[in-house]
Amino acid sequence: MKKLHLFTPGPTMVPADVALAGAKDMVHHRTDQFYEIYEQCAGKLQQIFATKQRVLSLNSTGSGAMDAAVCNLVSPGETMITFNGGKFGERWSKIGHSYRCKVHEVKYEWSDASTPDKLEQALKDAPAAVGVYTQLSETSSGALNPIKELTEMTHDAGKFIVVDAISGLLAHPCPMDEWDLDVILSGSQKGFMMPPGLAFIVVGPRALEKMEHTDRTGFYFDLQAAIKNDAKRTHPWTSNVSLFQQLNVSLDMLLEEGLPNIHQRHEIQGNAVRAAADALGFKRLSEKFPSNVLTPVLMPEGIAASKVVKFMREEWGIFMTAGQDDYKDKIVRIGTIGYQDYFDTIMGLAAFEMALKKFGVPIELGVGVKAAQEVFMSYLG
Ligand SMILES: Cc1ncc(COP(=O)(O)O)c(C=O)c1O
Repeated sequence: MKKLHLFTPGPTMVPADVALAGAKDMVHHRTDQFYEIYEQCAGKLQQIFATKQRVLSLNSTGSGAMDAAVCNLVSPGETMITFNGGKFGERWSKIGHSYRCKVHEVKYEWSDASTPDKLEQALKDAPAAVGVYTQLSETSSGALNPIKELTEMTHDAGKFIVVDAISGLLAHPCPMDEWDLDVILSGSQKGFMMPPGLAFIVVGPRALEKMEHTDRTGFYFDLQAAIKNDAKRTHPWTSNVSLFQQLNVSLDMLLEEGLPNIHQRHEIQGNAVRAAADALGFKRLSEKFPSNVLTPVLMPEGIAASKVVKFMREEWGIFMTAGQDDYKDKIVRIGTIGYQDYFDTIMGLAAFEMALKKFGVPIELGVGVKAAQEVFMSYLG
């Protein structure tokens, strides 16, 4: 017998009530029954994104919302600034190129972040750029970016900013209206405690204005069509009805917990895993900019991260992820996002220690677990 436990930075574990909601009777998407579910979700999503704007939902994974944020806002030939300090920053550049935009890419080491000095330089180097594309949390490196500061600098330069908060939303505060973001987007399979398949995107006034003057490319991710249909409480295409039924339940659970508590939960989990990694004597990638979405633990020389995660998955049903690209075998990424409690994390850390021991790493079992327990204890009243 083997239970499956996800410590991956998406998909994440799904509560039983959310999973069961996906088994409800199907309803047609052009009916009052669906419009009601749509509108209930829309109101709750506004609270999650901390915005008065409408939150548009797309039938896609998060990358669909990224695609939409480029093809609706940057005309072919216009310049966009991107930050490539990992796979998902790189994706902004790839999308831009695919729509024949000019991409001014700021490339940096995965241990680093999209810091204000880099943006300052990029704004000088690419004065014609119309917008800046970055992410709240870079999931391939575990780096958290200073979105509030970057937004202020971007606006001072008269440009719009687009924030990929696909993994970062709910793990960290990123309030749309308070920080005056132009576009923020996310996906269902992360902090939302949902299966993959829905993306969310909020478009603020500056970006709406730019959209009016953009020579949009692409077809499926036409945000003007999405906005028009949103006014009728529906989508331009067939809605992902079952996922909406699930979303309605997951949003209730999240709002009952409340945003400050959700952020604190992720911070405690992140602190616990970071403390465990440190106590075990491992270095962490992007140590200076730690995200609470995941902790990227650098493997000792000669230990292949992909083999360690494969072993945990096959032996115990514990899912963690190895790195990507150059970091494929160098880091194990321990996720702390979504439907995960203290004791899930302790279990994940225990498995991680056991796997490392099995691979011959000279650690003492329990050292990381104890450090995590101490972090959890420190938050008890
Ligand atoms: C920061 C970030 N951006 C983009 C994506 C891509 O999202 P999806 O796989 O849902 O298309 C991910 C997925 O892991 C992510 O973490």
